[in-house]
Amino acid sequence: MQAPDLLAALSGGRPVSGARLADAAGVTRAAIWKQVEALRARGVPVESHGSAGYCLPWPVEMLDVDSIVAALAPAVRDRLGALEVFWELDSTSSELLRRGNAMPDLGIVLAETQTAGRGRRGRTWLSPPGLNLYLSCLKRFEAGMAGLGGLSLAVGVIVMRALEALGIRGAGLKWPNDVLADGGKLAGILVEVSGEYQGPCAAVIGIGLNLRLTPALRDQAGQPVADLAGLCGGEPPSRNRVAAALVESLVEGLAAFERDGFGGFVDDYDRHDILRDRSLSISGAQGDLRGIGAGVDARGALCLRLDDGSMRRIDSAEVTVRRA
Ligand code: BTN
Repeated sequence: MQAPDLLAALSGGRPVSGARLADAAGVTRAAIWKQVEALRARGVPVESHGSAGYCLPWPVEMLDVDSIVAALAPAVRDRLGALEVFWELDSTSSELLRRGNAMPDLGIVLAETQTAGRGRRGRTWLSPPGLNLYLSCLKRFEAGMAGLGGLSLAVGVIVMRALEALGIRGAGLKWPNDVLADGGKLAGILVEVSGEYQGPCAAVIGIGLNLRLTPALRDQAGQPVADLAGLCGGEPPSRNRVAAALVESLVEGLAAFERDGFGGFVDDYDRHDILRDRSLSISGAQGDLRGIGAGVDARGALCLRLDDGSMRRIDSAEVTVRRA
């Protein structure tokens, strides 16, 4: 029995004895124990309940490509290039970068777990199986990289639209594209673009969305974090349904971005902008600045109103909200 089979066997959230697991898999109880330890090492909180056996603290819905596809609107299904679900990848984004031309436009991969999940600024993205979502989407653009200003902000809006479609409230966007809830990171977005400045290019869009974080994961995250369980009264929605909502929002949103650029996303960004009218500290290439958040422009730059009333547009910087 391998780790994915064990996770599936425990997915009901009720205890299953080591003897039953061993019998079903035709292996020794020691082999089961080894896989329990392997799951724990990946961040899955498998509990031991004495003679009752092993148990997960909650039921787990394993990712399933057919369930995701079945939940898609027919028009989205038609436009989707590919949809693949893996048990384990180093990183869903690295997988798409490796595939290159072999992957169709709007090809999407998900993994139950990533062994080398990548975050922004060289950070690691913790990716235990059975808890959260790790998804990457390949989008090709004919117009070239020059037209992709604001793409990563548009993806933030795309994630917010998926959450809204699921009826989930309480999240917001922190420029450029962090999806936050209760001051913690709910979703991370990593956009990697390659190709020509004025010719064909491709973006690999990676999204990590927290559905259920364990106390250990919160400790390891190294930054405040949030999960959908917290926004939904303790029980996150179905993982396959959330995956389908993200896929739908990506397919529709990326087509709109290709057609209209970031301009078509500014209003929605504004609705979810948690920096608007807040007192901000900015640190970046332009030095350190202080001012009031005044939304984003049609290129995706952050607008900052300085004390003298003038407006500065910030293309790249670290932003912190100042305490009142
Ligand atoms: C961030 O640091 O805010 C961005 C995190 C992006 C994580 C996602 S998970 C799916 C995809 N695969 C990766 O290795 N990274 C992105």
